[in-house]
Amino acid sequence: MRLDGKVAVITGGGSGIGAATARAFVREGARVVLADIDEAAGAAVAGELREDGGVVDFLHADAADPAEIERVIGFAVDTHGTLDVLHNNHVAYEAGRVGDLTLNGFRRSLDVGLVSYWYAIKLALVPMLAAGRGSIVNTASVSGLAGDYGLGAYNVLKAGVVNLSRVTGIEYARKGIRCNAVCPGPIGTPPIDRLHDASPAVWEDIRDAIPMGRYGRAEEIANVVLFLASDEAAFVTGTHVVADGGLWAHSGMPPIGGLGPDF
Ligand SMILES: NC(=O)c1ccc[n+]([C@@H]2O[C@H](COP(=O)([O-])OP(=O)(O)OC[C@H]3O[C@@H](n4cnc5c(N)ncnc54)[C@H](O)[C@@H]3O)[C@@H](O)[C@H]2O)c1
Repeated sequence: MRLDGKVAVITGGGSGIGAATARAFVREGARVVLADIDEAAGAAVAGELREDGGVVDFLHADAADPAEIERVIGFAVDTHGTLDVLHNNHVAYEAGRVGDLTLNGFRRSLDVGLVSYWYAIKLALVPMLAAGRGSIVNTASVSGLAGDYGLGAYNVLKAGVVNLSRVTGIEYARKGIRCNAVCPGPIGTPPIDRLHDASPAVWEDIRDAIPMGRYGRAEEIANVVLFLASDEAAFVTGTHVVADGGLWAHSGMPPIGGLGPDF
């Protein structure tokens, strides 16, 4: 098993990519502490995994609240004696054109989606430095590598997550601690399901913009997180892995001469 006996904290583990990652980690032998602000969702994922024999705890916590993430990481270390993997994954942000974003909304977006990732890393580094090993995997996005219309705050916070992963990776590279980001493209998780219900035409436009012609699955991102978390990625640090069905590889130019993706 690829994470045999390892101890992992996953934020936003009650849904989508975080829940899929929890399933992958447990399958590969990790002991997992899930944190989520959605109590019912987090408890359900933890319950399901425990029924399958997993060692999983769920803590109802706001990962963007410093005291609460201190409680989550403290719980993992107190309970299991160490922390091998931190997967920062939660998000919340204000949408809207740059000129229409609010001061509080923009600040709050960075606080929840970026500052809290840094703070969790700062906390996790203490047991990781003591043990001389650790792997941190941050969920960024292809939206951290380019701009999206109407997602300025999200673009900025995810770009910050990409570069936070770089600097953490280089600073702790000689301490046995790796840090990387995963950059998903559009993935069929509950927020995308809600978009499908609210705006089916937009959902289809996004799908059609993906060279593979489909949304990704949460498990396909969890597999990347699992790789980065595991010793298989022993020489991988300070970088990001894009998993987006080819979206980011496209310049945005429409097909010339009818030479589109369908043939
Ligand atoms: N779904 C996509 O298309 C996509 C694409 C690129 C990146 N991502 C990133 O993947 C990550 C997970 O997204 P998802 O699609 O699985 O979403 P999701 O809504 O299915 O899951 C996110 C979980 O985070 C929890 N959460 C939100 N704020 C929290 C907080 N402050 N503290 C603790 N938990 C909190 C939510 O309750 C939810 O359970 C996010 O960082 C998102 O930006 C998603």
